[in-house]
Amino acid sequence: MTFSHQMITQAAIDSFAGTDNPRLKLLMQSLVKHLHAFAEETQLTEAEWMAGIQFLTATGHTCDDVRQEFILLSDTLGLSMLLVAMHDGAKQGATEATVLGPFHTHDAPPMENGADITNGAPGQPLLVTGRVLSADGVPLAHAMVDVWQADAEGLYDVQRGELQSERRARGLITTDAQGHFSFWTVLPEAYPVPTDGPVGQMLLNTGRHPWRPAHIHFFVTADGYQPLITHIFREGDRYLNSDVVFGVRPSLVGDFQSHAQGKAPDGRDMQQPYWSLEYEFSLQKK
Ligand SMILES: [Fe+2]
Repeated sequence: MTFSHQMITQAAIDSFAGTDNPRLKLLMQSLVKHLHAFAEETQLTEAEWMAGIQFLTATGHTCDDVRQEFILLSDTLGLSMLLVAMHDGAKQGATEATVLGPFHTHDAPPMENGADITNGAPGQPLLVTGRVLSADGVPLAHAMVDVWQADAEGLYDVQRGELQSERRARGLITTDAQGHFSFWTVLPEAYPVPTDGPVGQMLLNTGRHPWRPAHIHFFVTADGYQPLITHIFREGDRYLNSDVVFGVRPSLVGDFQSHAQGKAPDGRDMQQPYWSLEYEFSLQKK
């Protein structure tokens, strides 16, 4: 870096010297410092930066009420997962967290423990059972288990235009007095993140695949405990080692078991083969 370059960078950093909020000041000064270092290191051209501005503009224009292309950008650059991991490190004995992703909604329908949340989503039946515990092993009654997932076609309900307001393979279940929860849903399949926008174009231009290994999302909350945002992944999925958003942790790979038709563990008479998954979630005290 030449002396005059250093003066430009320092002047831009110093321009935030009067910021009242010390955290905002730190964030802005560090952002400028690293952006300038990026430009110097890569010898960024003006044409390349204009292409970058056009990319960011297109990313913003692709966002709407149910599509968040900037979250997808953050996810595919690994930034979302880095932040999760940075703030998940101090837990002891609690289930590991992973990315929220862009498909969580705040209107998952409340369901009875043991209910079927499928509501017409295509896929093989799957019985999910488990418990919510404190990190030191005490069962947590009345914990809320918010669940959402893609179906056999790799789609979330909110991605189906005709179903904008309908909720499928999504539900809110409350644990019983012993911390148990269970529900019927469909077996999740691997799916590509949306590739019809600028982030998909970035993946294509850089030779990256857009796939996420099959998973079910969980957002588990209980009074007095830190909320847990995580997924359970399907063991054996071909994309477990190359998740496009870097969300896989070995402790979050679940043992999905296949069964022939017959009586399921919850007594339901299954006329077709089905799957089961059992998993215990542990929450860290606040
Ligand atoms: Fe997902």
